[in-house]
Amino acid sequence: MATTPVYSLDRSAALFAETSRVIPGGVGSNDRALVHPHPIFIERGEGPYMFDVDGNPYIDYLLGYGPLVLGHAPPVITAAVTAQIERGSMFGASHRLEPMVAEALVDLIPSIEMVRFGSSGTEAVLAAMRLARAATARRYIVKFEGQYHGWTDQVALSYAPPPDVAGPILRPTIVPSSEGTAPSVIDDTIVMGWNDLSALDLLFAELGDQIAGVITEPICCNYGVIEPRPGYIEGMRELCDRYGTVLIFDEVQTGFRVALGGAQSVLGVRPDLTCFGKALSAGYAISAVGGRAAIMSLIADRRVLQAGTYNTNPVGLAAIAANLEVLRQPGCFEEMARLSVKLRNGIAEIVAPLGGYVQGSTTVFGVAFGPEPIVNMREGWRNDPDRVMAFKRELRLRGIYTKPTPRDIWYLSTAHEDSHIERTLDVAADAASAMAELEPV
Ligand SMILES: Cc1ncc(COP(=O)(O)O)c(C=O)c1O
Repeated sequence: MATTPVYSLDRSAALFAETSRVIPGGVGSNDRALVHPHPIFIERGEGPYMFDVDGNPYIDYLLGYGPLVLGHAPPVITAAVTAQIERGSMFGASHRLEPMVAEALVDLIPSIEMVRFGSSGTEAVLAAMRLARAATARRYIVKFEGQYHGWTDQVALSYAPPPDVAGPILRPTIVPSSEGTAPSVIDDTIVMGWNDLSALDLLFAELGDQIAGVITEPICCNYGVIEPRPGYIEGMRELCDRYGTVLIFDEVQTGFRVALGGAQSVLGVRPDLTCFGKALSAGYAISAVGGRAAIMSLIADRRVLQAGTYNTNPVGLAAIAANLEVLRQPGCFEEMARLSVKLRNGIAEIVAPLGGYVQGSTTVFGVAFGPEPIVNMREGWRNDPDRVMAFKRELRLRGIYTKPTPRDIWYLSTAHEDSHIERTLDVAADAASAMAELEPV
């Protein structure tokens, strides 16, 4: 029998009604509308907590969809950012933080020799794909089913294709994620199933000399958390080398999140280009694309256009500098991984009797309800989205906030401690019993 009291959300309900009149869907980004029974309006965040407008506290594992690797309003970032704002929030001109932060990234990530900054992960991905096409004078970008690289026409393809339109597993049909997508992107993109080296091998044998770039999340974080099969990413690297294709790691999720050196340090594979965002700046709108000097120099030659009013925004760069200082401290990622594994194991025990499982990597994991851990998006079709959404709803109504989508990921921050994990597991046990009462397996 569940014992944790369930929250009342009256003020959020009223604000949602008001917002829906003037903002389409009543939310600022589409997935936020999936919060049931309606989006929750947040008043403030502090450390591992968010507090909503009705006064309810939440232990937060959404963490702004990943960026808040130091938790909410970390004093060290707030101080750095405030000091910069007092000196000027933007210049549209060069400033001292540029070489300092770029050098820090070059020092930390061996595959990065040069780096450019933008404002969002979406932008970093666009720049990387343009660089790949310019460096190779080729047409195709290969992306993988189920992976997310931002919302632009060029990559918002086959993110969540329904089984009846997804096409054959060896050469999936390209399914735009949105109406209004330019039909031409389909001619310039190839979508493949992830974690299948022999399929990629066949593709390269047929079209390798026309493939400009392969973009992949090196550890998939947008369909639960799926690690690559042993040898898969190494094989991808080898194919790209053999055919002169640019290998792009989209580390917008995994960068400064699964390890200080990102997924590439965990996997021991160096991409040609890497995209960073989210945890890079601990909550400020800044992203980076970096990689081999031979490719990045195409920007210096002005052969490749990469621009933006807000590029190298000093407030964002100040946040990165302060963030990296914390993340560089010995033991920082090990501690987040220890807590993540403790939480993951506890949740796995709680959801197992309801047909649930947990799948993860270092500091991140996802919960799903289905037959077994999955290796790609299509295996995930066997999962039950309604059950994971019910679990998340019951958690949220009792003060545990997780990503409000069926494709799950729980993030940790340096602000989380054992006591938060223990409280979360107590609440999760109650959420699971409430769920079992609602809909027995
Ligand atoms: C792997 C990956 N790449 C790119 C993006 C796009 O980043 P942004 O939302 O900052 O544009 C996301 C966002 O979730 C992502 O998960």
